[in-house]
Amino acid sequence: MEYCLKFSLLILLIIVSIVDCELLITPNNEYLYYSGRIDKSNNDCYVYSWSGVEILFTITGSTSVNAIFASDSQGEGNWVNIVMNQFLQIPINVTSGNVTDQYNLVSDQTLDPTQSYTINLIKRNEPMVGNLYFYGLVVDDTAILQYTMVPKYRKIEVLGDSITAAYGILGNPPCNFSPDTQDYYVSYGQMVANALNAQVQSEAWSGLGIVRNYGSPNITANNTFPDYYPYVNPISPENYGHQLYNFAEFQPDMILMNLGDNDYSSLPAVPQQLFESSFIQFINSIKSYYSKEPVIFMACGPMISQEMPGSPCCQYIQNVAAATNSIYIDLLDIQTEPTDFGCDGHPSISAHFKMAERVLPYIRKYMNWWF
Ligand SMILES: *[C@@H]1O[C@H](CO)[C@@H](O)[C@H](O)[C@H]1NC(C)=O
Ligand SMILES: *[C@@H]1O[C@H](CO)[C@@H](O)[C@H](O)[C@H]1NC(C)=O
Ligand SMILES: *[C@@H]1O[C@H](CO)[C@@H](O)[C@H](O)[C@H]1NC(C)=O
Ligand SMILES: *[C@@H]1O[C@H](CO)[C@@H](O)[C@H](O)[C@H]1NC(C)=O
Repeated sequence: MEYCLKFSLLILLIIVSIVDCELLITPNNEYLYYSGRIDKSNNDCYVYSWSGVEILFTITGSTSVNAIFASDSQGEGNWVNIVMNQFLQIPINVTSGNVTDQYNLVSDQTLDPTQSYTINLIKRNEPMVGNLYFYGLVVDDTAILQYTMVPKYRKIEVLGDSITAAYGILGNPPCNFSPDTQDYYVSYGQMVANALNAQVQSEAWSGLGIVRNYGSPNITANNTFPDYYPYVNPISPENYGHQLYNFAEFQPDMILMNLGDNDYSSLPAVPQQLFESSFIQFINSIKSYYSKEPVIFMACGPMISQEMPGSPCCQYIQNVAAATNSIYIDLLDIQTEPTDFGCDGHPSISAHFKMAERVLPYIRKYMNWWF
């Protein structure tokens, strides 16, 4: 709370200095629609960190639209995609260092105030990169926010690690992780949601496993995916780290998960019994969060064989799927062309497309979602 308040004072200064033909729309405005986990405890500053969190609105009567953001990312930017009337615009790089800034959402174009514009702001990076702090929109004082139709009635949730978080998806290898090559919006999870016309909520974090994480020295580790999963903002300064998500806000019809490969990405290997029982326990805890049990799809791949040849991970995940009445989906042998690789061996957009193509027939069949 203290963190946001500190910036509220700054905002006040910004507002006072704005010439009086501009208007601040605060984050709690009823015509701003949100999707994803967001800490809304401060009306003047909403805080979020999971990939794919969206802010959606329709505006008319304004020649410009700016958003006020800050990020607590360390050293590098935190990226937000902008879709205006269904067209992707130049993304914004919310610069790091806890500084609030106004970001022009329409890249210096002048909007026609007689037209309506529907604008969607989508968080590209995973929580590891940092929290985003949203302080509202600055528009002409003649602007009017309008009702936005949100026709999507199917709801899906996508859980995973770096693959799902779209690590390196835009990179030209050789390259390592950087926020600007990560873009959840072009990942398989978002592609699957688009194809099904579904609302999607995603929790994904690079390097995390079920029992241990990538490169953990021991068989078990703290701060695994199941440890972070229930939180609104899982790594956060002070007050934001400990708010549990209210699972009643979003009831998915189904969950697609792609987890477990980090457990077997390096030695020591997790014993089969421990891995399977921990995974089953995690799935049972997810089911207990929701009032209506979602259908669970468990994917394995595509990075398994590269990291640890002969890894038993996918066999164990099939066993967990069988034990929890879930549907197993094999995503091995996806990266067959050089163009299927982004940074550090991760799937590129073409590989994500193949993953989505592989996943969709299972979902259509088991959910009976044919159109
Ligand atoms: C994005 O912002 C960060 C932080 O200021 C900066 O280090 C980085 O170079 C920027 N990236 C681009 C592509 O402008
Ligand atoms: C931003 O602020 C938080 C909390 O005050 C602090 O932990 C973090 O190091 C800061 N980040 C930067 C890049 O200054
Ligand atoms: C990892 O295992 C070693 C050897 O058993 C032990 O000394 C060390 O404390 C463990 N590290 C952690 C973080 O648990
Ligand atoms: C996990 O955290 C607990 C409590 O902080 C600590 O006692 C334990 O050694 C940690 N285990 C590992 C594997 O790091």
